Amino acid sequence: MAAQGLTVAVTGPTGDLGVAVVSALERSGSVRRVVGMARRPFHPGERGWKKTEYRQGDVQDHGSVRDLVKGADVVVHLAFAIVSAGEATRELNVGGSRRVFEESAKAGVRRICYASSVAAYGFHHDNPDWLTEDCAARGTPEHFYSSQKAEVERVLGEVLLRHQGLAAYVFRPCFVAGPNAQMLLEELPYMRLSDALPGAVRSLLSQVPALKPVMPDPGIRFQLVHEDDVAAAFLAGVQGKGEPGPYNLAGAGTLTVRDLADALGWYSVPVPEPAVDLTVEVVSRLPLPAAASWIHSARKPVLMKTGRAEEQLGWKPEHTSRGALHELVSARRLGDPPLS
Ligand SMILES: NC(=O)c1ccc[n+]([C@@H]2O[C@H](COP(=O)([O-])OP(=O)(O)OC[C@H]3O[C@@H](n4cnc5c(N)ncnc54)[C@H](OP(=O)(O)O)[C@@H]3O)[C@@H](O)[C@H]2O)c1
Repeated sequence: MAAQGLTVAVTGPTGDLGVAVVSALERSGSVRRVVGMARRPFHPGERGWKKTEYRQGDVQDHGSVRDLVKGADVVVHLAFAIVSAGEATRELNVGGSRRVFEESAKAGVRRICYASSVAAYGFHHDNPDWLTEDCAARGTPEHFYSSQKAEVERVLGEVLLRHQGLAAYVFRPCFVAGPNAQMLLEELPYMRLSDALPGAVRSLLSQVPALKPVMPDPGIRFQLVHEDDVAAAFLAGVQGKGEPGPYNLAGAGTLTVRDLADALGWYSVPVPEPAVDLTVEVVSRLPLPAAASWIHSARKPVLMKTGRAEEQLGWKPEHTSRGALHELVSARRLGDPPLS
């Protein structure tokens, strides 16, 4: 079938990234029909989507997945547990992804576009300062999300070996930010770090007058990518541009927690590296919720080069990391209740 009139099946169309990806598919003349699936009730008309049908279903359920991918040219797989990733979500994240890939192959789907993550590389001290796609996606065993993202990439590789007609674009975004993608502010590690700090380290923060929230700054640099720029890369994958394979996605420039705190009008307090190491040690030994494993990401920067996406897909991100941060914070200020 020509690129005109593609049918695209999407898992997780209602999430932070899903809304941006489906909106981009809706705008594209090369996509005729979108079929989305997630667990909660949702009406595509609420978003003004005209070519999208929605059905409730679960990637852990064989029948739902089989029905979703039937007749699809391309499958976009986004459904995943992120902050809550742990042993309990392994069946959703790894088993569910395997099911989506296997059923897509059986249904004769031509391309899979899968949302992996920068976390798939793992937070290793021997990582290069700037990661390129030829670095191995090793994952960090103690960080559930990271290790499950790496494992899912391996699973996808196995499925591709067995089904030669199937191609896959594996996107590795850094933190996604924008008007819809608010996870960084709501749930992610830099916001949670203070919850996990041992008492002695937390006292560093209490030296600041508590007129505004205080964020601990481990000094780690990170990147942000705007939700619409990620969606543009997915659209290129859906259209089959460039070579299939892994693609790093990040906005230009880097940020620190201090930039995040400044943008929010909050305080930040530098937390020395030994204090972060101590926190990681303490957290590793405690029976804390799975989300506490995110502390490992505060130990080592994971910064990515994006030349491959630019060359192969013609990807031109419209937003820098700082621009994505600005949109994230502006949207938060416009509508939502203050973060506690
Ligand atoms: N946001 C980021 O910063 C970021 C960065 C890098 C990579 N990624 C990756 O991008 C993908 C999408 O992330 P996101 O930020 O959009 O996540 P999200 O906001 O948490 O959305 C997850 C989506 O998946 C659906 N879902 C969850 N469990 C499901 C299940 N068992 N069966 C079917 N659908 C299910 C959710 O809807 P229901 O809950 O209603 O089922 C929702 O539509 C993930 O794979 C994530 O790892 C995200």
